[in-house]
Amino acid sequence: MCGIVGYLGKRNAADVIMDGLAKLEYRGYDSAGIAVLSDKKLDIRKHSGKLAVLAEDLAKDRMEGNLGIGHTRWATHGEPTDVNSHPHFNKDKSIAIVHNGIIENYMELREELVEDGVEFLTQTDSESIAHLVDKYYEGNLLDAVKKTLNRLRGAYALGVIAKDSPNELVAVRKDCPLVAGVGNGELIVASDVTAILSYTKDVYYLDNGEIIHAKDGKIKIYDFEGNEVQKETVHLEMDLETASKGGYDYFMSKEVHEQPAVIKETLERRINDEGTIVLDSINITKEELEKINRIYIVACGTAYHAGLLGKHAIEQFVKVPVIADIASEFRYADPIIDENSLVILVSQSGETADTLSVLREAKKKGARVLSVTNVVGSSIARESDDVFYTWAGPEISVASTKAYTTQIVSLYMIALDFAIKKGSISRAYYDHVLGKMLELPSQVKEVLKGEQQCKSVAEKLYQSASAFYLGRGIDCSLAMEGALKLKEISYIHAEAFAAGELKHGTIALIEKNTPVIAIATQEKLFEKIVSNMQEVRARGAYVISIAEKHNTSVENTADDVIYIPNTDDILAPILAVVPMQLIAYYASILKGCDVDKPRNLAKSVTVE
Ligand code: M6R
Repeated sequence: MCGIVGYLGKRNAADVIMDGLAKLEYRGYDSAGIAVLSDKKLDIRKHSGKLAVLAEDLAKDRMEGNLGIGHTRWATHGEPTDVNSHPHFNKDKSIAIVHNGIIENYMELREELVEDGVEFLTQTDSESIAHLVDKYYEGNLLDAVKKTLNRLRGAYALGVIAKDSPNELVAVRKDCPLVAGVGNGELIVASDVTAILSYTKDVYYLDNGEIIHAKDGKIKIYDFEGNEVQKETVHLEMDLETASKGGYDYFMSKEVHEQPAVIKETLERRINDEGTIVLDSINITKEELEKINRIYIVACGTAYHAGLLGKHAIEQFVKVPVIADIASEFRYADPIIDENSLVILVSQSGETADTLSVLREAKKKGARVLSVTNVVGSSIARESDDVFYTWAGPEISVASTKAYTTQIVSLYMIALDFAIKKGSISRAYYDHVLGKMLELPSQVKEVLKGEQQCKSVAEKLYQSASAFYLGRGIDCSLAMEGALKLKEISYIHAEAFAAGELKHGTIALIEKNTPVIAIATQEKLFEKIVSNMQEVRARGAYVISIAEKHNTSVENTADDVIYIPNTDDILAPILAVVPMQLIAYYASILKGCDVDKPRNLAKSVTVE
């Protein structure tokens, strides 16, 4: 999502803006740019890729000046190229703008401006704004912006500066976030407070339809009709870390609660108006797909667990054999890979050393490599043939949560896309599954309403020495993720088992009050897992079951039941993992562990 920062004051504008843009990186972006009024000219630099590319440019040739605007762009209209990056400017580079949002009537504005003689440099919807401000500018920037706003339809947060007005910054909010910080003779506007807090804690929370205007030391707020709005600043008590946590006690909690929104993002960004998945960053043709006779999904930890579910989906939809493996094993296993193999790597960070080494090895052997990653421009993303970004936003907590659910959604979308291209599923089935996937964001929200129940389950198990997670079919892969969550943040020994394997050894470990989390979401295996629950309960286990809400008979066999909404079997893990994340979270708190930074672990494992 685009992020904007604007600055007018006594500091070096470029320093404040670059620092602010770094704080907004979590929003996801593919290019960045900045405009600073320097030596009576607008100095504009913009680059596709990470903010570091822009920072390198500025390090070589520093930008001086006290007025500027900056932007991180998440491409919607036009490719993520240097030229399409913001800030955009008018014909003589005397006006620059940054925009977050979408201008719906940009085509008609563009036509009108082209008739006026304007030459467009970019494919963006945003460039029209710069030319419109220019069209209406007669020495009064605020008036020109107001006239421009009358012409725009859509959602926007804007920052506007002009070469002729060195002490003036105009910013606008309509249906996109914008906060304004007021310091000692300075104004900083940004897409969220994290970009502001290092400079001031006094902020105006702008409402939709408001313009903030700083000129010659005065700051005023207007509505779109031009009436002055009286508003008080709010003094924020929070520090930067608290602000980044968005009011949650821990990043993990924030990230668990972000899942409805990020799953929606992952899905909706790739589905067009006809209800078809468009994987524009994956260029595998139908012919190439037909040649692929084996798929490997390789990853580590939680990402590997997501890969296990991806394997089920690809085999079920695409009907190609899939081998899911752990990167640290796979890299030394001398796997049979050739030009007819597709290697799918899954990695939140895109930097995991073992996964990266598999990528290089697979490419050496001629395989095509597709990565599913969360971090734009990461090593794995850069070196892969095709990339699918999960768009989960930054995941700070070491325990992976939203990355996991969006990885599964991503792998399922890839599976559906491959399957419809190959003709291995019908359009009706494709529509059905996709329709069910679109219900996931609201269903995850519903699961989150059961947070208190998860907390009380955690209260019952946090003092146990061990816990067991059981499942059958894809619930077995999910059990592995549940167990990993509990052990990594609460330090309780936890193991996952295929429920049918219990009686071949593990059941010997069950004693009075041993917590057993039995996942029972797979319809055709429901009675089987219920039998396994009976087996452990008969030996004294405290059984917590996660089941779909229509399966109330599970209550006869479990001590506690956590219900999830009804959905298709293949999608159930995306809902059923959420209570397990919350149980682990509360167990960690109850044990006094450092939830976000568990001992001995790092977020990104860049060593073998
Ligand atoms: O960044 P990656 O997805 O490649 O990281 C892989 C694992 O290290 C990671 O999933 C790890 O298992 C989780 N932090 C556990 O919650």
